[in-house]
Amino acid sequence: MPHQRLTLSLGYDVVLAGDFAGLQGELQACLPGSTRALVVTHPRIRGWHGAAIEAELSGVEITWLEVPEGEAHKSLETWRGLVARMLEARPDRQVPVLALGGGVVGDMAGFAAATVLRGLPFVQIPTSVLAAVDASVGGKTAVNVPQGKNLVGAFYQPRLVWAPLSTLDTLPPEELRCGLGEIVKHAIIAGGDALSRLEASGLDLLAGDKGALATVIADSVRVKAAIVERDPLERGERAILNLGHTLGHAVESVLGYGAVRHGEAVAIGIVAIARLGVLRGWTCAGVASRVEALVGRLDLPTRVPTGASTDDLHAAMGFDKKRARGMVRLVVFSEPGKVRLESLPEAELRALAELGVRA
Ligand SMILES: NC(=O)c1ccc[n+]([C@@H]2O[C@H](COP(=O)([O-])OP(=O)(O)OC[C@H]3O[C@@H](n4cnc5c(N)ncnc54)[C@H](O)[C@@H]3O)[C@@H](O)[C@H]2O)c1
Ligand SMILES: [Zn+2]
Repeated sequence: MPHQRLTLSLGYDVVLAGDFAGLQGELQACLPGSTRALVVTHPRIRGWHGAAIEAELSGVEITWLEVPEGEAHKSLETWRGLVARMLEARPDRQVPVLALGGGVVGDMAGFAAATVLRGLPFVQIPTSVLAAVDASVGGKTAVNVPQGKNLVGAFYQPRLVWAPLSTLDTLPPEELRCGLGEIVKHAIIAGGDALSRLEASGLDLLAGDKGALATVIADSVRVKAAIVERDPLERGERAILNLGHTLGHAVESVLGYGAVRHGEAVAIGIVAIARLGVLRGWTCAGVASRVEALVGRLDLPTRVPTGASTDDLHAAMGFDKKRARGMVRLVVFSEPGKVRLESLPEAELRALAELGVRA
């Protein structure tokens, strides 16, 4: 597969590659003279893909730094252990940190790279669809703390994002679907024919067809990249990337992280905000049902699973950061391509929760 390359004005490239071939040359080009690398990953991902990366980086001395899998381990405790092991490896400021994994590895390795020696060069090698289209691009790094998700972190841009599609061969189908949730979000933001392209390739995507995945991943990265280029520190426009996330985060926190996956929760949130739009008259019914049909076609949930009540969801959304003087900021859309932040009365959160639950 020929590489697809996107050069961001933030100073780095996102390369969508068939596998790892060419990564060594790319590292040499953006980090000249680096002969060592600290590779952060999960044990199972190292087992599947470690040999391929070692074969490609034959001239590089690799220090493997393994972290346990799962959102529960995206914590200050894991970060502390990780930075301690990084320091034991005695890097100088030229030694890059490579994050080989999904968003959990990427967010945590990125935060460690940002903090060790006040910044080691950082390279994202996303192995999940979600990380390829979303988490690896844009420089948000973080860990979770008891007070909430992603509340301790830094904006720290990578020097390179290398997304090897070969790693998707081992990605479980349910994780692939989750990535499609964020891809739907990006397609709604993009407008134009992005939604129809997704509609046309839905079954191929679910079957893991590489050609179809490469096309929609590239489309999706372009949407995210364009927004973070214009607003890298989320002073304004970047917030529209939270489409579907207000209810989505509430569903995750009420049901417990792990009971529902992030991409599934986002899909539920997108459908609910579309339904709220119809109720309030800013989205036409045809658009909402088209979005709902696409989410269903991609095998993602359109309603909150049993176990989360309207009251619980409403309460969980009350902790949302974007709340001021009885008003809440919600990302809404009237049609694909027309997504905006709207200041709405707090009561709309309850309506949103109800719509997420109601058949
Ligand atoms: N920084 C950002 O801008 C940003 C954006 C979106 C999401 N995120 C974060 O990303 C995380 C979610 O990312 P995710 O969905 O990739 O979750 P994840 O990293 O937990 O990966 C999901 C599961 O898939 C496994 N996996 C990943 N790649 C694999 C492969 N190729 N083969 C087999 N198994 C594989 C992982 O080990 C894990 O068990 C969340 O913590 C979220 O907060 C960050
Ligand atoms: Zn998300």
